[in-house]
Amino acid sequence: MALNLAYDSEYGVLVKDKIILKQLLDNIFKEKNILHVVVFDENVSPIVMLNQLSKTHAQTSNAIPLTTIALFNNNNKYVSEIKAGTLKISVPVKTYNEELIDYESLLEGEPDITPQTSSSGSTIIGYISMEISLKETISKLVYIRNWCIIIIGLLSMTFALLLSKIINAMVINPISIFAHGARVIANGNYDQQIDISTHDEIGQLTNAFNHMVRMVYNRTNELKKLNLLLVEQNEKLREMDRLKTEFLASMSHELRTPLNAIIGFSKVMLKGIDGPISDLQKNDLDIICSSGEHLLVLISDVLDLAKIESGRLELHKETLDIEDILNSVLDKCRPLADEKKISLTKNIDGKFPPLLADKTRVNQILLNIISNAIKFTYDGGVTVSAEVEDNDLLISISDTGIGIKKEDIPKIFERFRQLDGSNIRREGGTGLGLAITKELVEMHGGTIQVKSVPGAGSAFYVRIPLK
Ligand SMILES: Nc1ncnc2c1ncn2[C@@H]1O[C@H](COP(=O)(O)OP(=O)(O)OP(=O)(O)O)[C@@H](O)[C@H]1O
Ligand SMILES: [Mg+2]
Repeated sequence: MALNLAYDSEYGVLVKDKIILKQLLDNIFKEKNILHVVVFDENVSPIVMLNQLSKTHAQTSNAIPLTTIALFNNNNKYVSEIKAGTLKISVPVKTYNEELIDYESLLEGEPDITPQTSSSGSTIIGYISMEISLKETISKLVYIRNWCIIIIGLLSMTFALLLSKIINAMVINPISIFAHGARVIANGNYDQQIDISTHDEIGQLTNAFNHMVRMVYNRTNELKKLNLLLVEQNEKLREMDRLKTEFLASMSHELRTPLNAIIGFSKVMLKGIDGPISDLQKNDLDIICSSGEHLLVLISDVLDLAKIESGRLELHKETLDIEDILNSVLDKCRPLADEKKISLTKNIDGKFPPLLADKTRVNQILLNIISNAIKFTYDGGVTVSAEVEDNDLLISISDTGIGIKKEDIPKIFERFRQLDGSNIRREGGTGLGLAITKELVEMHGGTIQVKSVPGAGSAFYVRIPLK
């Protein structure tokens, strides 16, 4: 400001025109922080002295020290010093030599100036000293700063508002639509699609999601159709299974009647009731009788299995004497053991509580396991023991037979499964005995377990609840 004033007052100083200079200073005093200004001529004699309040003559001349003038001669543009809350700035008023000639020609007569020519080709024709109130300046700066803060704050708020509107329109609104659509679809409305047609990431995400929903919808429809087909086929299979069981039941009944007649009449003839028979005839009749019995067992097994599969096998439970049952089964099996010259031992201690079970089926279970033990034992014997453990009847049948490999144990309970080919050919059978036995034990709420050492023997453990 001081430099501008020095520049503007060049003419006023040169011609020492107080009116021009006062007009210039009036403008300067619009700035309230300027306390007073003195304009000097080249000899440092004041031309005009004004102060802020009265805009009349200043109290002091604020003479410019010689040291300051020396600095100006060394081309310093201004000199400032701070004193008692005020900033004093002194600047030289310069004119350039060509301009000086012009001005001289404008002036009439000889100019009474002794211009100081500086090294830069300009001449110092006067000085301006300006005193500025620091307090006023600071409060003015604070005022400006406050306005700056208010304007920046307002601009930031407007910007934030605009930004939130843009984010709302571009991001939040599409995401809300997407979330709502996803909820509707998640409730099972797979025929719905989300309607967002922007080309940004949200639009791409929506397209991918819609594609996925369409696929889920199509696949669900396909699955529904397949499910219906499965239900239909399941019904058909059930019906076929029912027919198969009915067929097996009626067939086995039809087969058993004539078979029983064959076995019965061959036994009558063997006893000689129908008259004497030759040794050759006796031999043939024996074969007819044993083959018939074998066929009868096979037919009964097939029928049992069909009944178990269709869930039609019913248990007729009654109170049983365990010892009686064991004795009767052992009696039936003893001829087989005697024939093979192996022992059949019953190992039972004390009295047993009654067992609530199906008599025929318990007989069948024990007969299957004990006859197997005799069938696959060639040396030593078979031991049957029984005990009561935790309200369960535990019967174990152990033998000193051929044994079963560990990995084969689960296989022996499969239908029509027989292990060793050569033994089987020797011993016969169909591989249904243990499959039926396991089902019957489980129908009684029991379990069957096997421990065996190949070449040393096997032990079967049957556990059936007493009640
Ligand atoms: N005590 C045993 N020792 C060794 N192997 C056995 C014994 N018990 C059963 N097995 C094996 O398990 C197989 C299946 O036995 P399962 O009683 O089901 O059939 P099977 O006796 O061969 O014929 P079926 O009992 O129908 O007349 C037998 O063929 C035999 O290989
Ligand atoms: Mg068997």
